Amino acid sequence: MNNFGGDWTKIKIEILVEYAKAYLAIMKDRKFFKLMYFDGFAGSGFIVKDKKVDVDITVGAARRIIEISDPRPFDSYYFVEKDLKNSALLEQNTKDAFPKKIIYTVCDDCNKKIIDLANFLRDPKNKNVRTLAYVDPCGMQVEWRSIESLRGLPLDMWILVPTGLGVNRLLKKNGQISDAWLEKLEIFWD
Ligand SMILES: C[S@@+](CC[C@H](N)C(=O)[O-])C[C@H]1O[C@@H](n2cnc3c(N)ncnc32)[C@H](O)[C@@H]1O
Repeated sequence: MNNFGGDWTKIKIEILVEYAKAYLAIMKDRKFFKLMYFDGFAGSGFIVKDKKVDVDITVGAARRIIEISDPRPFDSYYFVEKDLKNSALLEQNTKDAFPKKIIYTVCDDCNKKIIDLANFLRDPKNKNVRTLAYVDPCGMQVEWRSIESLRGLPLDMWILVPTGLGVNRLLKKNGQISDAWLEKLEIFWD
């Protein structure tokens, strides 16, 4: 299970769900379109915050999105999670828990799957697919060149950029940044 979270995590998920419902309301009568939800950092399905005295469990974004049926559900769901353990839990908490839904869970790097998504959407036989994508990393894992591959394609994308967890830690006040960190920053800002 993912062990992080807190008020911001909960608020973030509520905002995403509201946005997804508004998106689905707009698309409801556009029957020609097949609607796909893509989550590049899908987690395990649940977020557990162990506060020592009590344990706070939040339903993760992936499950919350699957649970939407009104105004309409998505036609398919594609979840990416790189961590093997989280990915196995995610599969149980999404694909296995909702056997009637079309759900793909893959254990892979989000950057690779974003490029695959771009190729999928670019294929003329998928021209009726519209995607809502959610990219919620816990650090600097997103490479802008993979996001760039989506340019001009029919999708709405949410990207959360946790600069406090990534960039700020690498930008040392004394200016002494190692080559490895510089390379990381360059890839991030590229
Ligand atoms: C902030 S959590 C996501 C939480 C999730 N959105 C939710 O609501 O439960 C980030 C997740 O991304 C996974 N992750 C880290 N690097 C990744 C990568 N390069 N590609 C895909 N997943 C990755 C982590 O294992 C972690 O479970």
